[in-house]
Amino acid sequence: MHTNLIIFGAGGDLTQRKLIPALYNTFRKGSLPKDISILGVSREALDDASFRANLKSAAIQNLPNEFTEESWSAFEQLLSYQKSDFTKAEDYGLLEQRLTGAGQPAGNRIYYLATATRFFCEIVSQLGDLKMLTESPDTGYRRIIIEKPFGSDLSSAKELTKRLHTDAKESQIYRIDHFLGKETVQNILVFRFANAIFEPLWNRNYIDHIQITVAETLGVGHRAGYYDQAGALRDMFQNHLLQLLTLVAMEPPAALSADLLRDEKVKVLTSLHPITADTNATETVRAQYEGYRSEEGVDPNSSTETFAAIRLFIDNWRWQGVPFYLRSGKMLKEKVSEIVVQFRSVPLQLLGAPSDPQKLPPNRLSICIQPDEGCQLEFVAKVPEKDKEMRAVNMDFNYRDTFGATSIPEAYEQLLLNVLQGDATLFARNDEVDLAWKFIDSIRTAWDSGSGAPIKTYAQGTWGPQEALDLIEKDYREWIRACTAKSE
Ligand code: BG6
Repeated sequence: MHTNLIIFGAGGDLTQRKLIPALYNTFRKGSLPKDISILGVSREALDDASFRANLKSAAIQNLPNEFTEESWSAFEQLLSYQKSDFTKAEDYGLLEQRLTGAGQPAGNRIYYLATATRFFCEIVSQLGDLKMLTESPDTGYRRIIIEKPFGSDLSSAKELTKRLHTDAKESQIYRIDHFLGKETVQNILVFRFANAIFEPLWNRNYIDHIQITVAETLGVGHRAGYYDQAGALRDMFQNHLLQLLTLVAMEPPAALSADLLRDEKVKVLTSLHPITADTNATETVRAQYEGYRSEEGVDPNSSTETFAAIRLFIDNWRWQGVPFYLRSGKMLKEKVSEIVVQFRSVPLQLLGAPSDPQKLPPNRLSICIQPDEGCQLEFVAKVPEKDKEMRAVNMDFNYRDTFGATSIPEAYEQLLLNVLQGDATLFARNDEVDLAWKFIDSIRTAWDSGSGAPIKTYAQGTWGPQEALDLIEKDYREWIRACTAKSE
């Protein structure tokens, strides 16, 4: 059956920088179903030709190595455009006519909401009013892809879900968290559950602590309007960092089905030990990079955090007492996303110096999500010809070396293909989103009321404020920068 992919917000940055390049790339590789049309919907008055021309320049810019005139001219035949005001009922009528009009193949529909959050409910309810979300064996499926942020706190997320559920079933909704589309993030599950040697060690008996770092070198850019309202906690922790945490901490699912996997993630989120107003100041750090308040579009008195660090615990049998340290920020020293699993030290130092086993480097497993995708396992080896000298050495797996330079597709390629296949495994379910907000909201509330950690500043190009170092150093541990950017 034919599939129509309808992108609301087709004139926006996301469509140009991520969605169209991802669709073009899957087309180029022959993975995009043949029977598909892509209809861009946006407020601007454009005809098909100028829409295609705009997207072509964006594709050239975003895929300088992959772009070819030949494959683009074949791909652009799939693209067309419809001007539409998301708030006007009559425009949805015109959209329906366009989709079902003479010569248009009817069939499945995917509505991609690549718009500002405030349009999500409006679009879905307008589609619902015109029965454009009604599925049947004759007309095919109707799926909705929703970009983040999904609400700005627990109550707005619940309200959003409630309103979406008036017109669509949960099974029709695909909430994007693009981190889940990254190969290396998907590999966390394979790594844990397709290898026999790690799982027996993956618990409080062998693991000392876990760190998750998602650091960026860029600032707020042209997104101040959104970011200054959101901040790092909402923008990165509620979704990406907590998703990484669930994958690292979850129990093996009974099968790799969307719901069973998400059930396990929900259990992790349910077991998060809440950070309350009383513990906020010792368990969290928030800070803003110097110069943030003078960025275009940022409130000159803004107290929005561009960096946050958290120490959290998971109250369950596997993880009781194991600290998880999470940090993320903008304008930091390096762009890197990595997870470090540090194992406990050996109980006894047999080989002489150093006499304190705590001083022997502990085993560490580092999962490098980006930019240098791979894994490293650090262990201790004897230095040749030195009787009592030992040091940490590395076993290193790197995606590009092993699978070739072009083996890592963009997250959106994978996610769009999954929606086409009806596979929701890599998308967040409403209960996951709610639990993540619940955890984040209690941190935010303490920050906003002034009873939690005070806002600090940090110099651009550093690893954040001193308080972030103190957060981990007070436990006699340190932040590890494990994955080295060989690919750069
Ligand atoms: C987005 C955030 O979800 O993720 C951005 O809104 C952030 O603020 C981005 O820059 C980071 O994604 P990536 O894939 O570049 O690490």
